[in-house]
Amino acid sequence: MQTKTFKVNPKRPEPSKIRQAAKAIRHGKLVAFPTETVYGLGANALDPTAVKKIFKAKGRPVDNPLIVHISDRNDILFLARNINPIVRKITQKFWPGPLTVVLKKSKAVPKTTTGNLDTVAIRMPKNKIAQLLIRESDTPIAAPSANFSGRPSPTTAEHVLDDLKGRINLIVDGGKTRIGIESTVLDLSGKIPTLLRPGGVTLEQLRKVIGRVDIHPIISGKRSGSVHRSPGMKYRHYSPNARIILVEGAKNKVNSKILELLSSFKKQGKRVGVMTMEKSFPNNADVKLYVGSDHEKIAANLFKTFREFDSKKIDIVLAHGISRQGLGLGIMNRLSKAAYKKTKV
Ligand code: TXA
Ligand code: MG
Repeated sequence: MQTKTFKVNPKRPEPSKIRQAAKAIRHGKLVAFPTETVYGLGANALDPTAVKKIFKAKGRPVDNPLIVHISDRNDILFLARNINPIVRKITQKFWPGPLTVVLKKSKAVPKTTTGNLDTVAIRMPKNKIAQLLIRESDTPIAAPSANFSGRPSPTTAEHVLDDLKGRINLIVDGGKTRIGIESTVLDLSGKIPTLLRPGGVTLEQLRKVIGRVDIHPIISGKRSGSVHRSPGMKYRHYSPNARIILVEGAKNKVNSKILELLSSFKKQGKRVGVMTMEKSFPNNADVKLYVGSDHEKIAANLFKTFREFDSKKIDIVLAHGISRQGLGLGIMNRLSKAAYKKTKV
């Protein structure tokens, strides 16, 4: 299969290009497109044959459900059941935006899309290209992140091409995505709202609007005995070629631990990379990648940095832990999942 790419102006998307991409969706094809979080790999969410192609192209297990993307908040009424005041309140506040809600599904949603579950994950993205594409397609679009399974989520069209060239029909290139980590997944299908994946909307923001929000044990680290509510959680996510060692603690202690590990691994003849939040620290790594100093920048650069380390044939990556406040919870969740080892100092 030949993968076509076309550039679309993210501020003023050209209607003819949106029409072309929408036509491909309506014809059951796979189209990668930008959202404000990461690139998605889209297909008509209501067409099981089209949705099956997503799983195949990504190498994704078929029981890992997809997020259904909508362009009109009222589409939720067609896709889900039991829409209570909390659902209305939270979607009113955070849609369009990086929040996905899990609800009981309606009959309109095929089980292929939900990995055989009776719930459906729904999100209304904020990105202009995404919104126009969904509207013009005249159908909700199922879209996981547009990476090959086990690779970091793509934040540019080049990342998508690197992973999925020859496996999908079209890539709509709308430039770099703004947020850089995936949406927050909030389960509202049970009695108590439960955070299944921290992301672009923070836990603090959610609690401010709806009060109690529980954190699924797999995020808080209390893994044992828990039932997997989000099937995606049970799969090992991105694991880089290099082994990431995540060092957490007070800044000075972390820095001296990183220097200590750096010299000891170098003595063993390893190529050592450091992912850093300070431009000048340290000065003797084989590869040093600066991710940014605040949470927004770190989130925006994180997955790109993972990909860069992978391409540089590094044995060990030393990474700083950051605070779990705000966007930090989502960043630390992605870092922890990628880490081979975690150390507290
Ligand atoms: O930001 C995002 O959410 C991006 C963009 C493209 O929208 N999409 C994305 O999709 O990250 P994906 O498939 O890579 O991650 C979706 C997560 C998975 O962990 C999946 O298991 C979970 O959401 N999920 C989907 N449907 C679910 C359901 N019915 N119940 C529980 N978890 C669900
Ligand atoms: Mg993904």
